[in-house]
Amino acid sequence: MIGFMCGIVGYAGTAPANGTSTPAGHQALDVLMEGLRRLEYRGYDSAGVAVVAEGGIAMRKKAGKLANLTAELAQRPLPDSMTGIGHTRWATHGGPTDKNAHPHVVDGGKLAVIHNGIIENYAPLKAELLQQDHTFVSDTDTEVAAVLLGDIYRSLPDDGSADGARLTRAMQLAAQRLEGAFTLLAAHADHPGTVVASRRNSPLVVGLGDGENFLGSDVSGFIDYTRRAVELGQDQVVTITADTVAITDFFGAPAEGKEYLVDWDAAAAEKDGFPSFMEKEIHDQPEAVAATLLGRSDLEGKLTLDEMRIDADVLKTINKIIVLACGTSAYAGQVAKYAIEHWCRIPTEVELSHEFRYRDPIVDDKTLIVSLSQSGETMDTLMAVRYAREQGAKTIAICNTNGSTIPRESDAVLYTHAGPEIAVASTKAFLAQITAAYLLGLYLAQLRGNLFQGQIKDVLADLAKVPAKIAQVLANDGQIKELARSMADTRSVLFLGRHVGFPVAMEGALKLKELAYIHAEGFAAGELKHGPIALIEEGQPVIVVVPSPRGRDSLHAKVVSNIQEVRARGAKTIVIAEEGDESVRAHAEHVFYIPETTALLAPLLTTVPLQIFACELATAKGYDVDQPRNLAKSVTVE
Ligand code: AGP
Repeated sequence: MIGFMCGIVGYAGTAPANGTSTPAGHQALDVLMEGLRRLEYRGYDSAGVAVVAEGGIAMRKKAGKLANLTAELAQRPLPDSMTGIGHTRWATHGGPTDKNAHPHVVDGGKLAVIHNGIIENYAPLKAELLQQDHTFVSDTDTEVAAVLLGDIYRSLPDDGSADGARLTRAMQLAAQRLEGAFTLLAAHADHPGTVVASRRNSPLVVGLGDGENFLGSDVSGFIDYTRRAVELGQDQVVTITADTVAITDFFGAPAEGKEYLVDWDAAAAEKDGFPSFMEKEIHDQPEAVAATLLGRSDLEGKLTLDEMRIDADVLKTINKIIVLACGTSAYAGQVAKYAIEHWCRIPTEVELSHEFRYRDPIVDDKTLIVSLSQSGETMDTLMAVRYAREQGAKTIAICNTNGSTIPRESDAVLYTHAGPEIAVASTKAFLAQITAAYLLGLYLAQLRGNLFQGQIKDVLADLAKVPAKIAQVLANDGQIKELARSMADTRSVLFLGRHVGFPVAMEGALKLKELAYIHAEGFAAGELKHGPIALIEEGQPVIVVVPSPRGRDSLHAKVVSNIQEVRARGAKTIVIAEEGDESVRAHAEHVFYIPETTALLAPLLTTVPLQIFACELATAKGYDVDQPRNLAKSVTVE
């Protein structure tokens, strides 16, 4: 399941007693706003609510943080209601604007829809609906789903009933037409007291109340009202009213949901039950990689990067790529360099943004600038991109924050879909950046004819297997956590790697510095004998990222001999190696195995134990792993 990151809430409560307008249970709006407040960490580009009241749909939505919606509601209150849906958005399709915010209201203002996920086939569906003279006001895939749902709803017989059955049937039929990842919630003026939802590859849970029922992208959406929850399965539709919860598959066959009691407190719920956002986001990584891949290639392995607004002919003339980034994002660029040069045969430099523009770089209209930034607001990188554009270069932003400054000032953008990264030290964005950079490299190779379609398809097939392999590493994290806790008093750790393992070693060192405040340094393993080996003394911990023995075994053999060199001088060797590589055991105090993958994709797996190690060691020291001292999530000063 791809845990897309918008916040979603639905509510169906008990109708007002005769003669009054106030619902017997909670006001729908109160429940929605409380839920959105708790879910705001899942996405905060925009927020909106819609309620069914006085025979219609009343809706408010605003770009920006939830506070903007609260202010809007103070200015323009909604009527009392017992039924509603609410949404905080982490934009994927369409920038964070008022018109792109959810809910989307269609069908003559009678149907409100919210969505979490990516609808892969929104373009052909939109074309089909435009053919039928439907109109659209936003750039979102969500509005396409909403118009489709409304169109199907209109096509169903109207028996005048307000029991929601027609809306449920319409949702089932619409869900059959949608591809990709989606959680959809819908409320219709004809059915006050009913909310209908569907899900595929995107989260949705039901909250069971007394005379009221809830929907949420996770339990945070309703944890203030009930701890009784029902997890929905893949390809299911759920219809809630104040007193009923009915689940079916997309074809109407009844289905059962598994009820459970939420044993998290509200704060823990925002972290999916993990003790920190850092640990949650390390565990979000399978979904972050899968979501970044989703919708960007077809079954033949043809890449379709729909935000790529640079003319193909221009991309064919590029004779140099410069990656601009800072910190962890720069290490993602270092990793990507190996793949891009290998696939595209274009010289690729990776530059620290803050160094780039002061070294009088050689940039012209045949240079492609690729900026890597989770926040899209890093001033060093923004200024470097501006400088490069002044020199005539084309610029592509690989960014995790839709509508942020760097993508807005670039010629094209390739968004990572890691979801909001709350912890200051970057983890899931790092893997998503590497994934997106690989997609860009494959796209360029496809465009310029450096790779055959079959070769690209093979790489994409290998990439598609990575999320499950990351999950496998995460499931076996006990040993590395135990080692980390035992090393809480360590004062320095060295990290070694070769080829793509070198930037992974540097990223592992940065994580340890950022989280545990321990001096740590990443080296190219081959550099050791040129000086750093003088640092080795009895008991010095050295973590070594070993390449697969299946690839160029010369590289593997060289790294194994590097391990022997440091061990011979007393180092405590900790090795990250590929499953089945028994050759390292004789030289390592500890070996942590990762699943087999290709050499170029290995960083997506070898990084994970290093993240876990740093997080667990810092936790053992009692440090705040979400907000490390001296650091900011986005460095917006130069
Ligand atoms: C990552 O762990 C660090 N917090 C930091 O190095 C970060 O990667 C760097 O500041 C770049 O931020 P950006 O990706 O938002 O541009």
